[in-house]
Amino acid sequence: MNIGAEIQRLTDELNRHNHLYYVESNPEISDYDFDQLLLKLQQLETEYPEFASDLSPTKRVGGDITKKFETVKHRFPMLSLSNSYSEEEIIEWGNRIKKTIETPVEYVCELKYDGVAIGVSYLNGKLVRAVTRGDGVQGEDVTNNVKTIKTIPLQLKGDFPVDFDIRGEIYFPIKAFEKTNEERRLNGEAEFANPRNSASGTLKSQDSKVVASRGLDCMLYGIYGDDLPFDNHLESVQKAKDWGFKVPTVDAKYIFKTNSIDGIMEFIHFWDTKRHELPFEIDGIVIKVNSYEIQSELGFTAKSPRWAIAYKFKAERVETVLKDVTFQVGRTGAITPVANLKPVHLGGTTVKRASLHNADQIAKLDLHIGDSVFVEKGGEIIPKIVGVNEKLRNTSAIKVQFIDVCPECEAKLIRRDGEVQHFCPNEKTCPPQVKGKIEHFIARKAMNIDGLGSETVDLLFSKGLIKNVADLYDLRFDQVIDLDRMAEKSVNNLLKGIKESIQIPFERVLFAIGIRFVGETVAKQLAKAFKNIEALALAKYDDLVAVDEIGEKIAISVQNYFLDEENVNLIERLQKAGLQFEVEEKVLSSENLKGKNVVVSGVFSMFSRDELKELIENHGGKNVSSISSKTDFVIAGANMGPAKLEKATQLGVEIVSEDDFVKMIGQ
Ligand code: IVH
Repeated sequence: MNIGAEIQRLTDELNRHNHLYYVESNPEISDYDFDQLLLKLQQLETEYPEFASDLSPTKRVGGDITKKFETVKHRFPMLSLSNSYSEEEIIEWGNRIKKTIETPVEYVCELKYDGVAIGVSYLNGKLVRAVTRGDGVQGEDVTNNVKTIKTIPLQLKGDFPVDFDIRGEIYFPIKAFEKTNEERRLNGEAEFANPRNSASGTLKSQDSKVVASRGLDCMLYGIYGDDLPFDNHLESVQKAKDWGFKVPTVDAKYIFKTNSIDGIMEFIHFWDTKRHELPFEIDGIVIKVNSYEIQSELGFTAKSPRWAIAYKFKAERVETVLKDVTFQVGRTGAITPVANLKPVHLGGTTVKRASLHNADQIAKLDLHIGDSVFVEKGGEIIPKIVGVNEKLRNTSAIKVQFIDVCPECEAKLIRRDGEVQHFCPNEKTCPPQVKGKIEHFIARKAMNIDGLGSETVDLLFSKGLIKNVADLYDLRFDQVIDLDRMAEKSVNNLLKGIKESIQIPFERVLFAIGIRFVGETVAKQLAKAFKNIEALALAKYDDLVAVDEIGEKIAISVQNYFLDEENVNLIERLQKAGLQFEVEEKVLSSENLKGKNVVVSGVFSMFSRDELKELIENHGGKNVSSISSKTDFVIAGANMGPAKLEKATQLGVEIVSEDDFVKMIGQ
């Protein structure tokens, strides 16, 4: 058997069935038969890894872990849309266009999918990279995760352009969202608040298996490239369908062409009432000028195109009964009142709770238990109560009282001058605050302890095994293995993660220990200025405020931290455990690249991009993300973007291969 050809045949076959199932909703074979084909391909790839492709349908099930998402610049900036909230604004927008463009204008109306924007680049029909919107100029490379979304083709079919990007919205279909929450409930995990935020959270998951398991979807809404084979938006979307993308169709009324403002209004009214019948959430309608030529004539403002506008639906409002109010204690000790409601349908999900923010809010609403309340869902994570139907209030109803003592530890609550929030001051032993400190310590941006999540922290805390972060480093296998839901493998992972964390550099340890107001950047500045914890602990107020970005509030907080004996003891224990409490001065491997600005672009065979970047720094060079006249050279791998190549050639910047680079650094 020709293995390469067989792998290709299975790949094509599986891609076709994937498309039929997920995009067309019209499968030809059973799930069982599909799984058999996939298994066969997986076996062949394991046996003959030399034929396994990065774009194999086996990648759809996930498994690739991304430790840190690389920041990448968008080839075409990802702009946002200007929003409008009334029909008048749409009419004005249309009139402005009519004034500029004297000929009749065609508009295309689309749904405004409520998810996260994604940009995916294709080269020669293959998916090469998927990047989040970020700040519009650069975003995070989430390619491994995006490959698990079945409606995003890995390999295009038909007559596609050689080099282009698509823009689309990744969203959580309501059914998949509800299924995930159901599973989380059964596992005793906290439920997700809404589809949009959880789609965004899922996309940033480090484990692509998690993404694969959630069932995210993607709808395409734009194509960007230099020489595209069409001259209007609707045609581009329809062509993209032939290449394998999931696109809105005219038949489903998801996209609609019209040459009048009345036509636009018809589309808006239709979806304003029908939107809850959709299998996904939308938060409005997008209207775009169809012709590319007119689009470029209209151009852009600083932030958004003039040729498109979003019409946002008004926040939805329902009425339901307030059953009671409970009070939650956050990791900083902040008390949040939560309204427990008679479950009610709102915007595609069932709402059982609403945020009440703080005591002032409760007073302002004059809330009574049993009140009939109006609940609204705007863009917030949880819906909020916006008013009370006083006509329905029972005369004997009891007014909602704010609490005086912490519901977790019974400490008397405080409310600082000028602040609206009540706090529990007992940060040392109040359970959510202690657990919060530990969760902050283990987080990705802090000590990044693999194998330890908030549920395990809960468990270890409730069994009395950890009372502070230093206790983590004393944990033993025999203590943890006896706990519920702890298998040998997970205990080993957890202990390994803890042990490995002692390598984390000082600046992150400083962030992790949770000194009030010392965030990531401040921790970096402090580490750079004082070099070690002893010097920081002894720093005078004037020394502290002399550091960039350190003001009075932070300086006082740092000093207070070290005045507390318990904190000093904690640090001593962490030092004994081997954590880094001083800056590691980098010893350069050589100075071969001293003063050189280097750009890394493309895919390499010997090193990963991160490894190359580390090598550049180890040899005295500086990594820069984009090519300019100041760039000394570009290390070019396979698939280096044509735009970059052209720019480098134009500016006369030297292009070196991976091999040349290795010679340059003398390795
Ligand atoms: S077009 C240059 N079309 O809305 C304009 N955006 O602020 C590009 N969105 O985050 C956007 N549905 O992800 C466009 N049919 C649609 C959309 C859509 C949702 C999102 C988009 C962006 C935001 C625009």
